[in-house]
Amino acid sequence: MNLGSPEGTKDILPPQAEIAGPEEKWRNTALYQRLEAVARATFRRFGYEEIRTPVFEYTALFHKSSGETTDIVEKEMFTFGDPEDAKGTYSLRPELTPGVIRALVDESLFSKRSTWKLWYLGPAFRRERMQKGRFRQFTQLGVEAAGASDPLLDAETMILFADVLEGVGVRSWKLRINSLGCAACRGGYRETLKKAVAPELARYCENCRRRFERNVFRILDCKVEGCVALSSKLPAAIDHACDACKAHMKGVEGALREAGVEYRIDPRIVRGLDYYTRTVYEFSSSRLGAQNAICGGGRYDTLVRDMGGPDVGSVGFAAGAERILLAMEEPAGAEPPDFFGVAVTEDLRGAVFRAVTELRRAGFSGDMDYEGRSLKAQMRSANRSGARFAFLIGPDEAARGVVKLKDMKGGAESAVSVEEAKSVLRGGKA
Ligand code: HAM
Repeated sequence: MNLGSPEGTKDILPPQAEIAGPEEKWRNTALYQRLEAVARATFRRFGYEEIRTPVFEYTALFHKSSGETTDIVEKEMFTFGDPEDAKGTYSLRPELTPGVIRALVDESLFSKRSTWKLWYLGPAFRRERMQKGRFRQFTQLGVEAAGASDPLLDAETMILFADVLEGVGVRSWKLRINSLGCAACRGGYRETLKKAVAPELARYCENCRRRFERNVFRILDCKVEGCVALSSKLPAAIDHACDACKAHMKGVEGALREAGVEYRIDPRIVRGLDYYTRTVYEFSSSRLGAQNAICGGGRYDTLVRDMGGPDVGSVGFAAGAERILLAMEEPAGAEPPDFFGVAVTEDLRGAVFRAVTELRRAGFSGDMDYEGRSLKAQMRSANRSGARFAFLIGPDEAARGVVKLKDMKGGAESAVSVEEAKSVLRGGKA
């Protein structure tokens, strides 16, 4: 019986595998490796440390943080366990922010240091309908700078992500930012917005009519054409923000301008999670379809306190690795191995294996045939592997304690000891 992979999940395959179509190009381990290496190096350069949290948490954590009325919590979580348990059911994490903040509070980390700059990279799960760039298991890479309210930190997270994009060769991106205000000014804006929407409420889609009562801000990011036309005339949050929020936004904008990161203020960026305050932002790519958000983030100044920690501000983002890979402009091939070992006669496979092991232990990458195939077939494998060198051991080489090293590009051959082969391989790498 062939069940296939569950809907919304994909196998990520070695680069040698034929993967059909450009839509599928991201299913390639070499691309992931390139993105992950660039992201890790960039996180380190910006002073972020790695955190790893469980892939599942108590369901209640997401209700309390991501938000009771958000799409993610209302209908997209994979939940399991016994609802009768004292702490309720578990859910696979639909996002990593709540787990990271829970860990910081749980482990009393704020008593050790006031600001934590953390990064993460791992799977997230949402029960969504499959679409280009939308999966049920996907990979989030992100940062949380928890413990400080400086607008420079908001800008830093955006500059960091722009650097990641630059590093992996994604050029077709746009950054849009907005401010949602704080506890002091958001209530006033909510009322202003409701007043402006109310007279035309009947013309909005059913979803928006529901949002009107529960979370009126979400009307601003509805993608339904009719709603977009109506909501484009609505008052913008930043115009109704308090002086402190306006000053914060100016601080963020100034730092972005100085860093040369292009951005646009877009009052329609409201984000689909409840914890945001002040700055919110999204990076999008024109190379994607409807799901064009490659990264979303923002400030959340009350979440740490709401989860039992100190009253400190935080800011962060998460990016969808698969969407970044779809937006990448250059293909990534596998790193070619250094050598391929070939046994001229069957009885010399042991000698080849010993040399292969010695070279691998000396830091070189390479392989040999494990199927007892003919010399010709082994040479074909050596070619196909893309290795810079092949080494052969025949009766003559075995008797002399050497290997025949063959440069696969130039064709030059020489009989050398394994020790000498290492120097040649080292030179070949340069
Ligand atoms: P989010 O906007 O829900 O924010 O997700 C962040 C990114 O994850 C999106 O921009 C998208 O690239 C990717 N993503 C989301 N859902 C899917 C999906 N079903 N398939 C593929 N990719 C997807 C958050 O998760 C927040 N925790 C971000 C954050 C961190 N804010 C502050 N700190």
